[in-house]
Amino acid sequence: MTNSDTKAILTFSDGSAPLEMPIYKGTVGPDVIDIRKLYAATGMFTYDPGFMSTAACNSAITYIDGDKGELLYRGYPIEELANQGDFLESCYLLLNGELPDAAQKLEFDYTVSRHTMVHEQMQFFFRGFRRDAHPMSVLVGTVGALASFYHDSLDINDPRHREVSAIRLIAKMPTLVAMAYKYSIGQPFVYPKNNLSYSANFMHMMFSTPCEEYKVNDVLVRALDRILILHADHEQNASTSTVRLAGSSGANPFACIAAGIACLWGPAHGGANEAALSMLESIGSVDNIPEFIRQVKDKNSSVKLMGFGHRVYKNYDPRAKLMRETCYEVLAELGLENDPLFKLAMALEKIALEDEYFVSRKLYPNVDFYSGIVQRALGIPTALFTGIFAMARTIGWVAQWKEMISDPEQKIGRPRQLFIGEKTRSVKPIEQR
Ligand code: SDX
Repeated sequence: MTNSDTKAILTFSDGSAPLEMPIYKGTVGPDVIDIRKLYAATGMFTYDPGFMSTAACNSAITYIDGDKGELLYRGYPIEELANQGDFLESCYLLLNGELPDAAQKLEFDYTVSRHTMVHEQMQFFFRGFRRDAHPMSVLVGTVGALASFYHDSLDINDPRHREVSAIRLIAKMPTLVAMAYKYSIGQPFVYPKNNLSYSANFMHMMFSTPCEEYKVNDVLVRALDRILILHADHEQNASTSTVRLAGSSGANPFACIAAGIACLWGPAHGGANEAALSMLESIGSVDNIPEFIRQVKDKNSSVKLMGFGHRVYKNYDPRAKLMRETCYEVLAELGLENDPLFKLAMALEKIALEDEYFVSRKLYPNVDFYSGIVQRALGIPTALFTGIFAMARTIGWVAQWKEMISDPEQKIGRPRQLFIGEKTRSVKPIEQR
């Protein structure tokens, strides 16, 4: 971060004293105006609901160019990472800032695989849930509960504790997501296997039973691994900002990640892939698209084109392009090239991209538009889609949490408000109200 030669001068039409504020430059992307002295100097706050124009922190992890449709993890384009490496390689990169060499990759994979089991008592948490509980409710509960087993690594100011917690969270999320699935279908939990890759291990824990081992299909495992890479991190999105805010109070990492899972659950955020697939199923056929688009445009209806639009991308989400490619690969591998839902999704995308309503609002498909179709083809139930997103985003949350803890500028997050309620008034006795 460097000081710009340009300053920001805030002037007031009533002749109040102007305020000069420094402008900082990052390595790429928009500059920032440092407003930290604004309240002390003027007695006023800035007002920015939804933080449309607010940078809450500085970060070196992920950069999005919304106009170009670019996504970089530590400077590397997502396309190269998704096509050349695996998810754990991206995990190492996001966590440490550099790609691993062969020895570092081997050690990282070994370390993560040896932390994939959860404490045997964790299984008793599941019994408290209804079998049809939404997996995200189970994950919020069980990830938060991990803190009750790891008193040896909860000191957030100890770098070694932060490292151990990071590995435990990356390693145990697939185990907990698979356990949530097995619990929902009444099958026994399947233990992880250390001789399988991260994504193959997840598919094993999801689809093996005591009666029959899951046969690893490399195309399907590769597709899942790519889904995880594409969802790993994404700047200061709602759930990452939730994790940072929770972490700013000194809460332990397991509690912070549980808070991130809770935020990700929302249909405007990580719940969009589940909502997008439900939307495609409710549209049903290409013939129904015009009527559906009409409803989306009708301001009186709350209908949205799920899987479209983004706060930052005002061009095609690069992850959506890669996800569409993965769709082709998986459906071809499974002989489902004519999958009606995929055909419907492509027809809907084509119509939307030619419609002035979406073009004028720069609404393009985002990562969630196709990810549901791929996951459905992999045999993952719709209700678990956001759980997979949480499994992938755990590395992003943990990397951002670690960066925040070690940022000397960081302090507890405590936004202010514009108060529009009642001025001071006295309580009247109830008989006088
Ligand atoms: C993710 O932040 C991240 O990085 C998130 C994420 C990540 O990796 O962490 O990328 C993951 O959450 C992707 C987004 C998934 N959500 C959806 O697909 C849900 C549908 N999309 C919308 O809810 C919406 O586009 C948001 C929430 C994603 C973005 O909303 P914004 O930036 O607040 O934009 P907006 O709601 O102000 O929309 C601007 C206009 C509005 O119309 P007008 O009032 O100007 O007439 O576009 C319209 C909106 O009504 N609009 C849509 C729409 N999205 C926006 N209209 C129809 N369908 C949509 N999907």
